[in-house]
Amino acid sequence: MASEASPGGGDRRIFMPIRYVMAVLGSIGLAIIYGFKVNVSIAIISMVNHTALNDGSNSTDGPFAWDKKTQGLIHSMYFTGYLISMIPSGIIAEKISAKWVMNVAVLFNAVASIFSPVAANISPAAFAAMRLVQGLGGGASFPAMHVMIAKWAPPKERNVIGSIIYAGTALGTVISILLTGLIAAGMGWKAVFYIEGALCFIWFTVWWLVIADSPADQRRFISLHEKNYILNSLGNSGSRHGTGGQRVPLRKIFTSMPFIAILVAHFCSNCGWYMLLTQLPTYMNEVLRFDLKTNAGLSSLPYFCMWLFTLILSYVLTKLQGSGVITMTFSRKIGTLFASVVPMVCLVIVCYVGNAIGAVALMTIGVTCIGGMYCGFLANHIDIAPNFAGTLVAITNAVATIPGIVVPIAVGHLTSSNDPHEKLFAWKMIFFVTAVFYVIEIVVYWTFGTAVEQSWNNTDSPHPQTVPLDKYEE
Ligand SMILES: *[C@@H]1O[C@H](CO)[C@@H](O)[C@H](O)[C@H]1NC(C)=O
Ligand SMILES: *[C@@H]1O[C@H](CO)[C@@H](O)[C@H](O)[C@H]1NC(C)=O
Repeated sequence: MASEASPGGGDRRIFMPIRYVMAVLGSIGLAIIYGFKVNVSIAIISMVNHTALNDGSNSTDGPFAWDKKTQGLIHSMYFTGYLISMIPSGIIAEKISAKWVMNVAVLFNAVASIFSPVAANISPAAFAAMRLVQGLGGGASFPAMHVMIAKWAPPKERNVIGSIIYAGTALGTVISILLTGLIAAGMGWKAVFYIEGALCFIWFTVWWLVIADSPADQRRFISLHEKNYILNSLGNSGSRHGTGGQRVPLRKIFTSMPFIAILVAHFCSNCGWYMLLTQLPTYMNEVLRFDLKTNAGLSSLPYFCMWLFTLILSYVLTKLQGSGVITMTFSRKIGTLFASVVPMVCLVIVCYVGNAIGAVALMTIGVTCIGGMYCGFLANHIDIAPNFAGTLVAITNAVATIPGIVVPIAVGHLTSSNDPHEKLFAWKMIFFVTAVFYVIEIVVYWTFGTAVEQSWNNTDSPHPQTVPLDKYEE
């Protein structure tokens, strides 16, 4: 593999190793996509005519009388696009180009954003179609970035590189909540879509010109030393240009306990994530009479803490791993434990806390620790099968999207009672059931999770070897 280093590579590097440039750019790319995921829920407040709808809101009126059903349709269109593109884009990212899947994902989001004001003037359906396009881009982003990590990150640095990249989702959410609120208040809702869309083209150009699909393809900004180091550390796993003609070994994947452990962890974890982030604010509003959504600073706080925690935890775990204190498997389990035990405890305590400040604090602590998933089960796909990292994350992420659709409907149904006692009881049951999902996650992942590469990662070799990645040295 090292012999593939191009003669033109030279020793010109930017200011840091190119793999970290890729990580930071990838992080900004995900921040952009996650920014678009949330910006409409904020922009829409200044788009609809609250007087005409009589929805009780005090906000300034916008031009559109879109009722709650129409708004619901607009939001669900994003999820629809997200689900449609996920698995195909995972396969395309592995077989053709993860770099371009990511580029197209951001392009979809930017262009759809710029056309959103026009679409909104035509009809709510046209606006919803723009959300569908943005969802298509959103669904492609995780698989694409997983493949990039598999190709670029030496196993020992997977925690840090993966966390830098995925922490972008939290940071993008914070920035989007604050920026969208500011732009909408200062320049009107149309400016939100034009400005945020236009900013993406800077990212698009830099990612396109600077980053290649893999270290072997990278011509500029990479030293020979770095290229050899990455390629050697990866051995024959994940570093090839795509998986070529390799068929995805679906039967082996679905009978692999390490994979099922990730699948269960991802699903259960998302049940808790959607409870904390989308339903706890509703609980505060309906039961504690506190409206978190009107306070942009407070509602972006959990994401900011999550971003910081993700980076710190991945740094600490990598240091411990580097000095041989813990194995890769153990560090995946620690990350997952943080992301499950802490939010579980927070959800149970929420039932007994009667004030909004306490609930906000618990929500912030819970969401912060969920950041552990990025160096826990979420990075684990790449360990067990780097050649199929995109497909694997597409599968688990698709299954883990189900709670995002089911949880709001189920909670709305269960808590519809007007009797305050029944309502409170229903909320408590919901929080306890969510805690049970966390217990399942903890038990299954702790028992079956592993960071050892699985034999089905190399389907075309007659004697597939199982490489304990912990053993690699620089
Ligand atoms: C909102 O609706 C009310 C009542 O239908 C109407 O009088 C008002 O002009 C509308 N506002 C905007 C900005 O369209
Ligand atoms: C709405 O406006 C009224 C009067 O202007 C005010 O008393 C009330 O607190 C406001 N409600 C919210 C949620 O801002």
